[in-house]
Amino acid sequence: MPNKVELNNDYPDITRSDEYYHKALELIPSVTQTLAKGPGQNIKGIAPKYLDRGKGSHVWDVDGNEYIDYLMGIGPLSLGYCYEAVDNAIKAQLNKGITFSLMHPLEVEVAEMINKIVPNAESVRYSKTGADVTSAAVRVSRAYTGRDKILCCGYHGWHDWYISVTDRNKGIPQIIQDLTYTFNYNDIDSVINSIDDETACVILEPFVFQAPEHNFLHDLRRVCSENGTILIFDEMWTGFRVSLGGAQEYFGVDADLACFSKAVANGMPISILTGKKEIMNVLDKEVFFYTTFGGEALSLAAAKATIMELRDKQVPGYLARQGKILREGYNKTAEGLGMNYTKCLGFDCRTIITFDTAAGNPLEMKSLVQQEMIKRGILWGGFHNMSFSHSDNDIKYTLKVYKEVLPILKKAIDEKNVSGYLRGIPVEPVFRKTSNFNSKPKQKEAKI
Ligand SMILES: Cc1ncc(COP(=O)(O)O)c(C=O)c1O
Repeated sequence: MPNKVELNNDYPDITRSDEYYHKALELIPSVTQTLAKGPGQNIKGIAPKYLDRGKGSHVWDVDGNEYIDYLMGIGPLSLGYCYEAVDNAIKAQLNKGITFSLMHPLEVEVAEMINKIVPNAESVRYSKTGADVTSAAVRVSRAYTGRDKILCCGYHGWHDWYISVTDRNKGIPQIIQDLTYTFNYNDIDSVINSIDDETACVILEPFVFQAPEHNFLHDLRRVCSENGTILIFDEMWTGFRVSLGGAQEYFGVDADLACFSKAVANGMPISILTGKKEIMNVLDKEVFFYTTFGGEALSLAAAKATIMELRDKQVPGYLARQGKILREGYNKTAEGLGMNYTKCLGFDCRTIITFDTAAGNPLEMKSLVQQEMIKRGILWGGFHNMSFSHSDNDIKYTLKVYKEVLPILKKAIDEKNVSGYLRGIPVEPVFRKTSNFNSKPKQKEAKI
């Protein structure tokens, strides 16, 4: 019998998952299309690898095992799986057509909504992926400023300009790698030391898990303005989640350009570039940013229905309330057990569980917790990506499971034998290093 969301006696049977996996090993390099969903991020031998269906906050893997999902498609399922209002909008649009030969009215209708909700969204463009719009924002910044260099901080997608700073940078010409530099979040000096009159843009997630400190975002705004540099907010995780208008609204800071995707269409593939008209106007004639499926109507219909639901049901507030109960509950259990090496941190709509290296190998600790959560019917990757479908019962059950699982981790650590408790291969790091770190962009050689 497949496992359910309960204190199961054994780990799930993942025979069918493994059958697909072994076929994929032959056919699909790296096996996955999204690194965070791949086998490297889940304890191999225990975690399911392929999901079949979902409803609300629950998913079923291809072997029929059921789980509460805290990954939620790595962000997009802001409302939940098979959410009726969104699915009905998709079905209604499906009956009329998916992709058309001329523009579609939904392009205008959704733009009007975004313009009202998102600060500084004087202009709006669509595409399909987060990387599309962060890359468009970078190109727009370069075109508008006539400069080439980029300062970034965090993850922004697979395109050359960003991924060149990581150790997965094969295939990217050195000349491109030399144009992107990184700075430290919450360290305005690291920006000031790097920004110069060749810096087209500073791009960052307004926050990841750490809150902005000492007026960091406001200072960043000022430094960019003083330097004639475009400030881009990558709001893939913050947008429509921390508040309806995203981080610009939440913190009262104006970005020049802001990029959205994930939460905006409850799982349909759409991304949105917004920004000040004067800057976005370079998209009119100078910058080329067009793609066949940019105005695809099912995703726009889903975005319209999702945004209405997020607004009418005040979903950001719900995510924060449920996330807070989980965060506080986790920390209370850990503290009660004297486990000061693990904490749940972050903004309540999306929190992370951290493991301190002082207690052992964090990847092994995370893998052990994941293994035991999965046994008890919780699909867990070290995050609480909250959705509107995470019910009070889900939260209550999850906290009960933490009370069972954390003592297992404690025992393993006390015995200095976490790896001995693992029944599979631990999770892997995503990137091992970033380069061009916190370094000053090279100056042009002086003309003689
Ligand atoms: C902050 C951030 N920016 C950009 C991206 C890239 O988005 P996509 O994977 O849709 O290209 C991601 C994806 O996880 C992200 O988390």
